[in-house]
Amino acid sequence: MSTRSQKGLSFETLPTRIKDKCGRVIEVRAYEAEDYESLKAMYDTFEPKGLEAGLPPGDDQAGLRWLQHVTSGLFNILALYKGSVIGHCTIDLCHAPSCPEYLIFVQKSFRDHGIGTRLSEVMKEVAKEAGCEKVWLTVRTANTRAINVFKKVGFEFCGGIEIERDMELDLKQAKVSCSLS
Ligand SMILES: CC(C)(COP(=O)(O)OP(=O)(O)OC[C@H]1O[C@@H](n2cnc3c(N)ncnc32)[C@H](O)[C@@H]1OP(=O)(O)O)[C@@H](O)C(=O)NCCC(=O)NCCS
Repeated sequence: MSTRSQKGLSFETLPTRIKDKCGRVIEVRAYEAEDYESLKAMYDTFEPKGLEAGLPPGDDQAGLRWLQHVTSGLFNILALYKGSVIGHCTIDLCHAPSCPEYLIFVQKSFRDHGIGTRLSEVMKEVAKEAGCEKVWLTVRTANTRAINVFKKVGFEFCGGIEIERDMELDLKQAKVSCSLS
């Protein structure tokens, strides 16, 4: 069953379920307007804030503006455990449909259980379904956990070597390698 939500976008990939490394079943589905308070609750306690590329702003007002922008203008996918939002990722399919930016956040107590990787794989399928050619992101070089996850799903570094670096996921290549395997 596919989802119809967020500006009429519909994807066969969603909703789905993933299992984390402990065997917990995590529901993964498109964000709906009524999820706003649950998502906000995740960000109220989210750490770290605003310290590194791709992280939500630390200031309360800026954080609120950021969340309103993300939920109103971008395509959002939620990971839920027992009804609570424990992970969120987003791609900007409206403004940059062929090469959207990717952002991902997993609640601290759920990190290192495979959820970020699986959620990124779901995002990759959604981006392929949406017809994106590439997906890109910015990450701080010190954020080695995030880089590890991004490399596992196929992102590669591009651009100059700075404290923050861009990574790109080439979905045209992904399609070719899938059809050959
Ligand atoms: C980055 C993030 C989304 C990853 O999600 P996650 O659920 O923790 O990721 P996973 O559990 O799927 O994978 C983490 C991997 O990194 C490894 N890892 C953990 N700490 C690490 C470190 N310090 N350096 C390198 N790798 C590390 C884990 O072992 C795991 O790899 P494995 O599955 O091969 O064993 C999550 O940690 C997060 O929300 N961080 C804060 C926000 C953030 O940085 N977002 C990205 C901004 S660009």
